[in-house]
Amino acid sequence: MEGIDVALTVGIHDIALATGHYALSLEDLAERHGVDPGKYTVGLGQTTQTVPATDEDIVTMAAAAAKQIIAEHDAGDIRTVLLATETGIDQSKAAAVYVQDLLGLSSSTRAVELKQACYGGTSALQFAAGLVHRDPEQRVLVLASDIATYDVDSAGEATQGAAAVAMLVSADPAVAVLEPTSGLYTANVQDFWRPNYRSTPMVDGKLSVSLYLEAAEQAWKDYEARGGRAIEDFAAFCYHQPFTKMAYKAHARLLEIHGIDAQMARLDADLAHTTSYNRLIGNSYTASLYVALLSLLDHAEDLSGRSVGMLSYGSGCVAEFFGLSMVPGYRQRLRTSSNQDAIARRESISYERYRAIRDFELPEDGSSTVLEVDGAGGFRLRAVTEHSRMYEACHPIQA
Ligand code: HMG
Repeated sequence: MEGIDVALTVGIHDIALATGHYALSLEDLAERHGVDPGKYTVGLGQTTQTVPATDEDIVTMAAAAAKQIIAEHDAGDIRTVLLATETGIDQSKAAAVYVQDLLGLSSSTRAVELKQACYGGTSALQFAAGLVHRDPEQRVLVLASDIATYDVDSAGEATQGAAAVAMLVSADPAVAVLEPTSGLYTANVQDFWRPNYRSTPMVDGKLSVSLYLEAAEQAWKDYEARGGRAIEDFAAFCYHQPFTKMAYKAHARLLEIHGIDAQMARLDADLAHTTSYNRLIGNSYTASLYVALLSLLDHAEDLSGRSVGMLSYGSGCVAEFFGLSMVPGYRQRLRTSSNQDAIARRESISYERYRAIRDFELPEDGSSTVLEVDGAGGFRLRAVTEHSRMYEACHPIQA
């Protein structure tokens, strides 16, 4: 490992959340779908889902999350912006370039977009760690930003949501050290995918659940085979949460392969704090695992010196299991009230309003549209003209 300091600790130095402007109740959606609300609130473990305003997208949410970090650190150390998403706004240009501009980051920056379904955020975190290992003076801004949308009246509609998480990855991090061992699993499967000509994914829901469980098991086994921690070493477990019940299913599988009785009390002890935010936000694809991490850190007792197990899953599929070791004093870095406020201040909307927002379409023929102010985040999509998106900073970010 010549040239690389393996003793160097690299990880998450700061982390922040943003979500969209509106919230739809799952009880209202259940009524529309003609199903018992318990199917969504208990069976899937979801209460509300974020619905972005018409002038919000993955760029505005990512910028709103990142702005909180930029406000507290020397942005001059950031030489790379990695934005993971599967809600891309362009087939060629990286959404990270728009964010770099909105945040006023130096032009001496590389800005790139990454994709592998919901796993993309973890790939960005791992690639960022590699860059920091190569040059510990540099910091990398990792952004995971997504809007989960399914066909109207489909089973997946109950699992929609939207959020962005921004992470500053650095040497000697203040929040969490990325542990070196990873368990990996990739398989070429068709559980969920979105061809270029579709705005909503193709999904085989039941297959996706079973493939997620299989991938979690295989990633864990690879992690174990590579000398990872024992399962009992972890203080808590964060899973990718397309819906919060999925974390319970996956953790039960992990416990069972160790011969541990997956009683609800044990599952709750390991997981309960990780689901509070996702239960309200819904699936945020690349961001979902890191929303789970924020939920854990904002609600759990002090985890200083303890390890948190992280299971990332992206359909198609790629999975990774790794550990984060919490840095003593990390709680001083948290933005608990800001995170909770971002979720609490969303405006509740009726099913009819949700449908009107969904039906809103940006021009695809090169004509110009100036958007009315709809959301109240720190950034907004102002206009679309000649096939180009124009963004603006519009409101101070609320603390
Ligand atoms: P469904 O098939 O309509 O629902 O949609 P169901 O019949 O499986 O019921 C759901 C649960 O509710 C079941 O619980 C029912 O028993 C229960 P389970 O048996 O599974 O524990 N239930 C009730 N509980 C209480 N009171 C009631 C009641 N009625 C039923 N009255 C499905 C479920 C997940 C298939 C659907 O939402 C879907 O297609 N979602 C989209 C795909 C998805 O989320 N897959 C998850 C794994 S893949 C993944 O995580 C990757 C992803 O994020 C994409 C990416 O990587 O980019 C999706």
